[in-house]
Amino acid sequence: MPQLTDAFERKFYYLRLSITDVCNFRCTYCLPDGYQPSVSPKTFLSLDEIRRVSRAFAELGTEKVRLTGGEPSLRRDFTEIIAAVRENPAIRQLAVTTNGYRMARDVARWRDAGLTAINVSVDSLDARQFHAITGQDKFRQVMAGIDAAFEAGYDKVKVNAVLMRDVNHQQLNTFLAWIKPRPIQLRFIELMETGEGGELFRQRHVSGEVIRRQLEQQGWQRQPRGRSDGPAQVFRHADYQGEIGLIMPYEKDFCASCNRLRVSAIGNLHLCLFGEQGIPLRDLLAEDRQLEMLKQRIQSGLLSKKQTHFLHQGDSGITQNLSFIGG
Ligand code: GTP
Ligand code: 5AD
Ligand code: SF4
Repeated sequence: MPQLTDAFERKFYYLRLSITDVCNFRCTYCLPDGYQPSVSPKTFLSLDEIRRVSRAFAELGTEKVRLTGGEPSLRRDFTEIIAAVRENPAIRQLAVTTNGYRMARDVARWRDAGLTAINVSVDSLDARQFHAITGQDKFRQVMAGIDAAFEAGYDKVKVNAVLMRDVNHQQLNTFLAWIKPRPIQLRFIELMETGEGGELFRQRHVSGEVIRRQLEQQGWQRQPRGRSDGPAQVFRHADYQGEIGLIMPYEKDFCASCNRLRVSAIGNLHLCLFGEQGIPLRDLLAEDRQLEMLKQRIQSGLLSKKQTHFLHQGDSGITQNLSFIGG
């Protein structure tokens, strides 16, 4: 099996595939004014295009795909998309990152179709604060969705909380009490500066170091990083079923372990979350017979991947918000 490799010897066996820009939440750090349609939803990759792009990546050694958005589960053909990606036996892991809105209703169907893992955003365990952050009064619905995921047979769920000063950065103990009896990996994500989020970033950014210190004081132990791990540093404690993850993109060397590529909902290959335009793939997604050309374009495009992002220098490139590229 070939392996996608860049100029710095990093290997890429993980694809984050965005299937829509549309979202029904308006998280303060992502889409504070809600989703503003700039293109018709019909312009997002079709089921057949998704089938072709995932086949190309599977043949290039991709083992894991994550469906992202916007909110991926808003697509009416979401279950068919899951099944289409899983038609590739090489793709053994198929995950979604979701706001949880549809989970209580649909998660059992997603599992039946072949979805192997779920990451869901919960920035606060207080229903009112959750509403203030996301613009949607759906805290209970999202919690019911997490319960439904366990009932459907998932043995672990990852929960994302974007760390924000004076919003949730002092709520570690509340989160810890929640995961004590539950097999949840709760990940604190450092707020990242986007083109539209500069002001919020200056007011709310706080380093994950704050959480790391508290965890270490309470006897949490950092786990060694495995090959298939994402960007999170994981901590465990013998008294807890749950785990804590820290995602600290501003830390030196964060990008050294980068193992993922991205394809946006309009079919551009992005080599990083930040800083570049994307390489168009769509003209090679129209017919099955273009497969070899598509694979070549992905392979040669990867050679221009840079060693690191430039967030430390206050450069978010063209990334206006993370919903446009799938986070
Ligand atoms: P798994 O490890 O596969 O569970 O996935 P993940 O943690 O990468 O996925 P998820 O979609 O839950 O992402 C969590 C957070 O990490 C989001 O805020 C992402 O934007 C951020 N993130 C994921 N990949 C990258 C990356 O390559 N660079 C940066 N800067 N942030 C990333
Ligand atoms: N900084 C950090 N995380 C963000 N996300 C969206 N925007 C930002 C940002 N500016 C996260 C969401 C979700 C994931 C897909 O991306 O919380 O968990
Ligand atoms: Fe929607 Fe996710 Fe952005 Fe929140 S972070 S507005 S749920 S795309």
